[in-house]
Amino acid sequence: MAKVKKPTSSRAAGASRHPDIDSILFDGDAISARVKEIGRLISKDRAAEPFTLVPILKGSIIFAADLLREIECPCGLDFMGVSSYAGTESSGSPKLTMDLRENPEGKNILLVEDIVDSGYTLTYLINVLLSRRVKSVGVCALLDKKDCRRVPVRIDYCGFEAPNRFLVGYGLDYNESYRHLPYIGALKPGLLKA
Ligand code: IMP
Ligand code: MG
Repeated sequence: MAKVKKPTSSRAAGASRHPDIDSILFDGDAISARVKEIGRLISKDRAAEPFTLVPILKGSIIFAADLLREIECPCGLDFMGVSSYAGTESSGSPKLTMDLRENPEGKNILLVEDIVDSGYTLTYLINVLLSRRVKSVGVCALLDKKDCRRVPVRIDYCGFEAPNRFLVGYGLDYNESYRHLPYIGALKPGLLKA
């Protein structure tokens, strides 16, 4: 008879620090607890009117997938993709790489972003949505690098304040690597190309 394997939690199994990571800022348990809190807040605030959750691809997918399972009121799901970063630098001029499937006119949209840095990406997306006559647009961001802001952005739900370091893991990448890490960590500075 085949032996039943003891299940290993993916969070525990992947939790040892990757050699390219300097320090872990938020581990899987801290993230999970905070995502639950944000889910509760959103469920309470938004129970009265339907809304559409719009994760911004690609960095927010893991956060958005976990958050969606913590939301207890009806909500739709659509996606927008945007790119503005090469390596660690914002070009300052974001471009849509993927647009919504549904017309957002008259809808309440809640954007889900992985991390806010200069604020250019969110400002651009909010303006795109307002020009399409949405009823409202809110922002839920997992991480906020407040000290890096170049343009002001209102964040309605924020997971954690973050330092001015380049962070990866839990969906966040550096040149498409490290998204799979089950925690958020700072990349070793020597690995960042100038
Ligand atoms: P902003 O336009 O400068 O606010 O940058 C926001 C976007 O840049 C986010 O959606 C991320 O994709 C990316 N980004 C900014 N800082 C980081 C970081 O520390 N790690 C990974 N991606 C980042
Ligand atoms: Mg992004």
